[in-house]
Amino acid sequence: MASSESAVSCFETNFQSSPQVVATAPGRVEVIGNHTDYNQGPVIGAAIDRNVTVALSRIADTVFRFASSEYPFVEVNDSSLKQSGENAWVNYPLGVYNALIRRGLKPSGGFQIAVESNVPSGAGLSSSAALELASAKAIASAFDLELSDKEFAIACREAENDFVGVPCGILDQGVSAFGQAGQLVHIDCRELVFSTFPLGSAYSIWIFNTHKKHSLVESMYATRHKECFEAVDQLRAAGLEVSYLADVNPDQFEAHKSRLSEDVAKRAEHVIYEIERVNQVDSLLAEGQVGQVGELLFASHESSSKLFENSIEELDYLVSILKSMPDVVGARLTGGGFGGAAMALAGEAFTDSYAQSVASAYRGRFGDEPDILHCHISDGARLLSSN
Ligand code: GLA
Repeated sequence: MASSESAVSCFETNFQSSPQVVATAPGRVEVIGNHTDYNQGPVIGAAIDRNVTVALSRIADTVFRFASSEYPFVEVNDSSLKQSGENAWVNYPLGVYNALIRRGLKPSGGFQIAVESNVPSGAGLSSSAALELASAKAIASAFDLELSDKEFAIACREAENDFVGVPCGILDQGVSAFGQAGQLVHIDCRELVFSTFPLGSAYSIWIFNTHKKHSLVESMYATRHKECFEAVDQLRAAGLEVSYLADVNPDQFEAHKSRLSEDVAKRAEHVIYEIERVNQVDSLLAEGQVGQVGELLFASHESSSKLFENSIEELDYLVSILKSMPDVVGARLTGGGFGGAAMALAGEAFTDSYAQSVASAYRGRFGDEPDILHCHISDGARLLSSN
């Protein structure tokens, strides 16, 4: 994890004092359920052993100071103002502070916070949700606000939707809040029910980070979000009484899809069948049949690539190579897409030397190598110390 020591030392260097609280939160991998969350479907993820760790103190002056070894130092007096340009990184903790005020935090004085991370950013591993959750745990503790993990997840999603301005679902914040070592997190995004279940110790997650990212990734995510709700509007116009794509079953979709415009029909088909795949994976995992979920993971990727069109050539290539590797159960893009990382669920016979051979095949094709992260499934957001 981004160590507590490094966050504390960043705090001491910048603020010449010891922090009042230290908190940490993990990045996540999306195991299956691509763009199902904001459509009110289910999704399965896992917290990974890459963290954002923050050290924070409440101060008497109404001023908010943000330090990090990666990003510029920022000081603001008005916590309700969104920052832009190179200061935009502080919108995550600032947005969280505002969301916590709406949940009863009594704003008096300010805070100073130091942030350290080893979650690769831009890889689809939710470094921003990790920053939100770690900040939320630290701010709530320093300001004596008690919240459940569910409320933390919802507040952090609200910060991202309303303050940062990304129309994401609850996946990233839910997994970062509810992660547990060795356990997958299942989220029913309609009822907001978060549950965990063991993956089985013989399996682990490998991540291949391409470092490729479409320059318009955020607006492309927003476009897909919009298209999903256009699909709902068009299905309603065709006579189906639905509010979300999760309300539509495959038979209803097949009976009405000719009434949808071409791109919108593809987005809806991806989401509606992806929800079926998540439910099938959930049942197989509940029976301990981890080895059987691979086809569903590969089908998820194929559907992202062909129907949702949020893959890139590099991810398609990684998934096709991983498919031929020993003991890879399944592989797919993970997260919002349009770049980032591919994940593989693999058994013990898939070793580092196989991972290296995936990377060198990739280099043969694209000229550079993806980063390889072999992840342990880890605990969710938590307070590490408070004075
Ligand atoms: C991003 C979003 C999530 C989810 C995934 C796609 O990670 O933040 O809410 O929509 O993309 O499944």
